[in-house]
Amino acid sequence: MNKKVILAYSGGLDTSVIIKWLARRGYEVIAYMADVGQEANFNLYKARALKTGAKKVIIEDLKKEFVNGFVFKALKADAIYEHGYLLATALSRPLIAKGMVKAARAEKADFVAHGCTGKGNDQVRFEVSIGALDSRLKVLAPVREWELKTRQDEIEYAKENNIPIDTSKKKPYSLDVNLWGISIESGKLEDPYYEPDEDIYQLTKGIDKARAKPAYLEIEFKHGVPVKLNSKSMDGVSLILKLARIAGEAGVGRSDMVENRLVGIKSREIYEAPAGWALYTAHKALESIVLDRELLHFKDLVALKYSELVYYGLWYTPLKEALDKFVDDTQKHVNGTVRLKLHKGNCAVVGRKSPDSLYRKELATYEKGDKFDQSLAKGFIDIWGLPYRK
Ligand code: ARG
Repeated sequence: MNKKVILAYSGGLDTSVIIKWLARRGYEVIAYMADVGQEANFNLYKARALKTGAKKVIIEDLKKEFVNGFVFKALKADAIYEHGYLLATALSRPLIAKGMVKAARAEKADFVAHGCTGKGNDQVRFEVSIGALDSRLKVLAPVREWELKTRQDEIEYAKENNIPIDTSKKKPYSLDVNLWGISIESGKLEDPYYEPDEDIYQLTKGIDKARAKPAYLEIEFKHGVPVKLNSKSMDGVSLILKLARIAGEAGVGRSDMVENRLVGIKSREIYEAPAGWALYTAHKALESIVLDRELLHFKDLVALKYSELVYYGLWYTPLKEALDKFVDDTQKHVNGTVRLKLHKGNCAVVGRKSPDSLYRKELATYEKGDKFDQSLAKGFIDIWGLPYRK
């Protein structure tokens, strides 16, 4: 067994210190950076990693795969965890894990490492995914075991070891950023009664600063996937970026919640997913006209389960893969256009249409042209209510 290790490296303090910590223990460290839309300064971080003692840095642009292979699958499933979290962080982990496994094979490394703490969900997602993809790999999680108990300890370690880190004052929150959204936690947010300071938000305006005029949007879906924004064809990555800007300006996409972590604790989390909220809202509105009642209601149960599987790190599992097949089958007729009105934090559906619509005006109307035979209703109700009269 060699001592080569693929480290999931973000460029932040923790993973920078990990490079040195592992190198000092005789590991040959290959830093792996996945670009999932976090807009990091990859070149700067690469130079720092090499200076800190990494043998090599791999940077991979995974934005397209993130959107098409992960985000849009969750969108088709209408996956949302505990009614507020569109799973941006959770969806990125299995993809990054896949990239790490690929790198480990290419580099013939026997180890992979991450910078997650022992209290979070991300350690579980990385390790379960890695194990499912290549059970031969050994995982190192230095933060769970090292002697550096506080952030200050890490900063001192960095100074003593000449590890280049950002000297500007660190944001008092922990952030995880990708194309689908931002997760913000810790610091003052650990008091669930404390209202977040406005400056923690990166993608969305507060109600008072949001655009004064409503923004109207048309989103067109094909088989459950958004393909056009305001009649313009776009690839998924561009569509999400564009939509995020518009929705963020309108103050759409924030959530503030106390959620149940996998390890059993409740934690206060703030999320921003402006494009995600708009797409989730529009997608559900389209499904409401193209899916029949039984399928629609059953799919809601699947959405709940799907969100749990994603949150719990169970991406590469038989159930998740089977549910993808079910969900894909339900999306055959999810074609059409939804009109949204975004205004001051509100994301309202104001119109929906589809060539596959099951809505029949001649059945629903209270005006002329009604084709619904109301005389049949009496018999239907007699039989429907029979058991309760007996
Ligand atoms: N609570 C969220 C989740 O488990 C967000 C985690 C954020 N991760 C981070 N490294 N800051 O998906």
